[in-house]
Amino acid sequence: MKGIVLAGGSGSRLHPVTLAVSKQLMPIYDKPMIYYPLSVLMLAGVRDILVISTPVDLLLFQRLLGDGSRLGIRLSYAEQARPNGLAEAFLIGADHIGNDSVALILGDNVFHGPGFSSLLRAQAGDVKGAVLFGYRVADPHRYGVGEADDTGELISIEEKPSRPRSDRAITGLYFYDNDVIGIARELKPSPRGELEITDVNNVYLKRGLARMVELGRGFAWLDTGTHESLLAAGQFVRTLEERQGLRVACLEEIALNEGYIDAEECHRLGAELGKSPYGRYLMAIAEGAARSTASGAGPDDLVP
Ligand code: DAU
Repeated sequence: MKGIVLAGGSGSRLHPVTLAVSKQLMPIYDKPMIYYPLSVLMLAGVRDILVISTPVDLLLFQRLLGDGSRLGIRLSYAEQARPNGLAEAFLIGADHIGNDSVALILGDNVFHGPGFSSLLRAQAGDVKGAVLFGYRVADPHRYGVGEADDTGELISIEEKPSRPRSDRAITGLYFYDNDVIGIARELKPSPRGELEITDVNNVYLKRGLARMVELGRGFAWLDTGTHESLLAAGQFVRTLEERQGLRVACLEEIALNEGYIDAEECHRLGAELGKSPYGRYLMAIAEGAARSTASGAGPDDLVP
C-alpha cells in the first residue's frame, strides 16, 4: 500500500498565523502537525509516502522531513497548484500509487487511540473498495457524514449535511483499492469548484464497496481547524505525554519499534535535537532499546 499526505490548502481559517507558514507545519505541542498524520501511515505499515502541498510550502516540508531515509521510509513530494479538492490527490499521485492500493490522510488530522496500529494493519492488508473511518461527533454537520448498517457497509455518505442522518463523521483517513485513480479521473468539480472526496466515496458506495470502520470511545480524533481547537489539540497531547512520559506521534520511535532504524541511529537522531525534550526522549528510548537488545528482551519490554 502506498501513502499520501495531503498538506495543501490556504489555512485561511487560521490567518494571520498561517499567512507565511503552512497550517500543517504549525506545532501541536512539541512537534509539527504533519508528524501526526505521518505517524498514522507509519503505524499502518506504509513506507512509501507522497507529501502533497502548495508550490510555496513544499520546500519547507522537504526541509523538515527530507527523503525519509533517516526514518527508514521513502518520502517524495508533489505540488498541488491550487486547492482543487481532496480527490485531486489521486490525480497528482497517480504515478506514485502505480498499481497499488493507497491510504490518503489529510495533513491536519490527528488520531490517537489504543490498538490503533493493529486496527490499521488489519484494514490495510487487502483493500477491496473503500475503507473509511467513522468517529462519533457532537457536530456532524461540519464533516462528511456516513451512515452504515450493522456490518459496517455504508448506506449513505453526505458532505456537511444540514440534517445529518447519523452522528458519525468520516475522518480524514481513507483506504482505497487501485480503482480510485480511474474514479478520480471521471469526477467533475462540485458547485464549489472542487474534486470532492465524498463523490469518490459515493461511487464506491454505489458499487457496494464502501465500508466504515468505527473508531470507538477510547479514540481521539482531534480538530485543528480553529485557533481554539488547535490549542486544545496541543493541550491534549501535552496532558498525555506529561502523564505517561511517552510521546505521541514520535516518528523516530515508530521507526525504531518497526525495526526501520536501530538504537544507534535513533540515538544519533536524538543527539541532533539534544537540546529539546523531544531529542532527549529519542536518546532515552534508544538507550532503553540497546539495553533490552543486550539482555534479550523484546520490544514490548522497552521502558524509555
Ligand atoms: O477532516 C475530515 C473532513 O475533511 C471530512 O469529514 C470531510 O468529508 C472532508 O471534505 C474534509 O472536510 P474539510 O472541511 O476539513 O475540508 P477542507 O477543505 O478544510 O480540507 C481539509 C484539509 O485538506 C485542509 O487542511 C486543507 C487541505 N486541502 C484542502 C483542499 C480542498 C488540500 O491540501 N488541498 C485541497 O485542494
